[in-house]
Amino acid sequence: MLNFEFKNPTKILFGKGEIAKIEKEIPEGAKILMIYGGGSIKNNGVYDQVRKALADFEFYEFGGVPANPEYEVLINALTFIKEKNINYLLAVGGGSVIDGTKFLSAAAQYEGEPWEILKKPVRTFEGQGMPFGTILTLPATGSEMNSGYVISRRETNEKLSSGGPGLFPQFSVLDPEVVRSIPKNQIANGITDAYTHVLEQYMTAPSSADLQERIAESILISLQQTAPKVMEEDFDYDAAGNFMWCCTMALNGLIQKGVITDWAVHAMGHELTAYYGIDHARTLAIIAPSHYRYNFETKKEKLAQYAERVWNITEGSVEEKAEAGIRKMEDFFHSLHIQTRLSDYVEDYQNTAERVKKAFTERNWLGLGEYKALSPEDAYQIVEMSY
Ligand code: NZQ
Ligand code: ZN
Repeated sequence: MLNFEFKNPTKILFGKGEIAKIEKEIPEGAKILMIYGGGSIKNNGVYDQVRKALADFEFYEFGGVPANPEYEVLINALTFIKEKNINYLLAVGGGSVIDGTKFLSAAAQYEGEPWEILKKPVRTFEGQGMPFGTILTLPATGSEMNSGYVISRRETNEKLSSGGPGLFPQFSVLDPEVVRSIPKNQIANGITDAYTHVLEQYMTAPSSADLQERIAESILISLQQTAPKVMEEDFDYDAAGNFMWCCTMALNGLIQKGVITDWAVHAMGHELTAYYGIDHARTLAIIAPSHYRYNFETKKEKLAQYAERVWNITEGSVEEKAEAGIRKMEDFFHSLHIQTRLSDYVEDYQNTAERVKKAFTERNWLGLGEYKALSPEDAYQIVEMSY
């Protein structure tokens, strides 16, 4: 097991009705800016619950943060924060709203041009961001309990990530009741995103970190078992709760401690969202199978372990089990109506691999993956395999 440090300061308030408690989590006298997305919170009762809980605070709101949070929109929020001397942020939404809020938390405390936080040489935010809490409305990204975020800039076709230890939410409310109003395609996205988060931290080489491996496998199995229940028309509170907690646990830092991690699927996937606007989770389902087949030699033992422990495939050689594991993963995505080829989403895809190779070369991303060994040319091959 590799050396590690682990600190996750986010307080979780899990369960029905917990939104009412946020009043106690925010310091008295705080000047709050609530940040939200396109308005789903006004239709499902979450907005009213928040207003009621914060009736005694000085309270402002900023709506309209789009999916794949857009830099230009967030800059308007930043201006507002400075004009009104806001000192506490409250994200009410999915990963996009929470990520946008983290960017604002950092940008509000940053002296230079805000986009620098997402570009070289900074790309991380040192120091403490403006304090913020979150009310999660879409289980998927794990952003509610980690300190990373991803921002898009349509003007330049970029989608870049950043983060820093001072950007953990102070608290996050996880009320499974919010799952009631989520459209099924977004639930499928959430399952696929969380599932791939586990894979990025697991599908490397066998490790001696037994507990992390077993927790990772448990999250994968729990997501597989919960998926059909949360995709059903009838709402199932316990299934929604399990789904929600799996998504949070998949990316709150726990399973990545003491092991090597990959994250190349996300790096390539983010490019597909930047070029074509494909939902984040679907880009991962496009890239992951090709990534595992392209890197079969270095990953086959772990793929075989995944096949055995997660899918009960016990027959055959290491190679046969490993390939069977990849096929099971594809079948699982298909069972959620998530397609796994770029050509399923985009007609004019032929120059995508070349674009990815060029972008990675220009950004000096010369070594991706757990061994930092994947060159832009390797990314070209993987993206081309996913057509
Ligand atoms: O905008 P509103 O009206 O809220 O509607 C949203 C949006 O249209 C809707 N929605 C959310 N909760 C709902 C709901 N609709 C009905 N009822 C509810 N309860 O769902 C749509 C998608 O929301 P979004 O926040 O964009 O989805 P998601 O949570 O999947 O977030 C995706 C973003 O997170 C980034 C992605 O790259 C992408 O930009 N990621 C962030 C990570 C992190 N911070 O750790 C890691 C991930 O790998 C990912 O990269
Ligand atoms: Zn993701």
